[in-house]
Amino acid sequence: MAKVTLENVVKTYGPVTAVGDVSFTVQDGEFVALVGPSGCGKTTTLNLIAGLIPISGGNIRIGDKLVNDLDPKDRDIAMVFQNYALYPNKTVAKNLAFPLQMRRLPKDEIARKVAEAARVLDITHLLERKPRELSGGQQQRVALGRALVRDPRAFLMDEPLSNLDAKLRVQMRTELKRFHQDLKATIIYVTHDQLEAVTMADKMAVMNGGTLQQYDSPKNVFDHPVNTFVASFVGSPAMSLVPLRRVVEGDAVALAGDGWQMPLSPANARKALSAKSDTVILGARHSTIALHDGPREGAVPGRVYTVEPTGDVTFVQVHVDGAIVIASLAPDVAVRSDTNVWLGFDQSRMHLFDCETQMALT
Ligand SMILES: Nc1ncnc2c1ncn2[C@@H]1O[C@H](COP(=O)(O)OP(=O)(O)O)[C@@H](O)[C@H]1O
Ligand SMILES: [Mg+2]
Repeated sequence: MAKVTLENVVKTYGPVTAVGDVSFTVQDGEFVALVGPSGCGKTTTLNLIAGLIPISGGNIRIGDKLVNDLDPKDRDIAMVFQNYALYPNKTVAKNLAFPLQMRRLPKDEIARKVAEAARVLDITHLLERKPRELSGGQQQRVALGRALVRDPRAFLMDEPLSNLDAKLRVQMRTELKRFHQDLKATIIYVTHDQLEAVTMADKMAVMNGGTLQQYDSPKNVFDHPVNTFVASFVGSPAMSLVPLRRVVEGDAVALAGDGWQMPLSPANARKALSAKSDTVILGARHSTIALHDGPREGAVPGRVYTVEPTGDVTFVQVHVDGAIVIASLAPDVAVRSDTNVWLGFDQSRMHLFDCETQMALT
């Protein structure tokens, strides 16, 4: 396999900038998820790497080779699409062999490659079946096998699981992750589903509005989002974001709401002081917020809006200063809507963002 490098890649359609100045490197054998909301430029980026559309600016390299002007067929990459597009009248073996026959490879080499791909994907027992005799998951493995027999330098996948029902999608996520581990394949995987990205990828490239927001491991993106967009896009339920007033009295720094103040730890005080204005956005994930039924030192008053039991955990939406904060509780703890609660934010795990730039304060 090979590494894939994007340098200042741009794609414009007349006045529309679909991809604006995107740079990142996918190392050889790495699984990278391109993730972001609909229309943020994921498919366009993938199509530029595949060579399906001409690039407007920047460079794309596969291995060390500049591929900007290379035809898709000469880039040695495999695209796996949403619909598997298997030939319905051919057996699995013939589906796998077909791309190799098109390339006029010798018969024994075709047989060897088909057998090897079938072994790796654990579909040897399915080789004589037709696609309609396979489950959705098995069809997907055949589609992967058909890409695999071509010895591609990288796999490009555009939302390959989005047509599947929820249960199969979870199962195929595991399969794809295993496929990547076994093959040490270079994979660039497009999805709008942050959970798919977090669970499968070595790194995630979070995009918004055609630009790359953050490129890092899922853990770092989750723990250290660079801005409010990434903070609210990654993680479910989303991180709560509350704009608050910064109050400075001597060395003490606090965040203030309507009738209350939360003193900040020294580390958070330093961050808050670096904000460009007196409004600072507090960010907190549900798992870092304690819920109390009475006032506590440093806790923030709020009123319960809704209670959403999910079985394992109960999510509680709380109105705090005109914003909604989501906290989570064990399922056996009783809370009712329209009651007063006090939220204890874990200062070592809270995030602060600049209200003007929306960037994380560090
Ligand atoms: N052929 C095209 N002509 C004009 N605009 C396009 C074309 N293809 C994509 N776009 C625009 O580029 C942006 C990114 O599209 P796309 O890469 O398909 O997003 P995503 O895959 O993240 O949903 C969108 O605003 C889309 O409308
Ligand atoms: Mg798309």
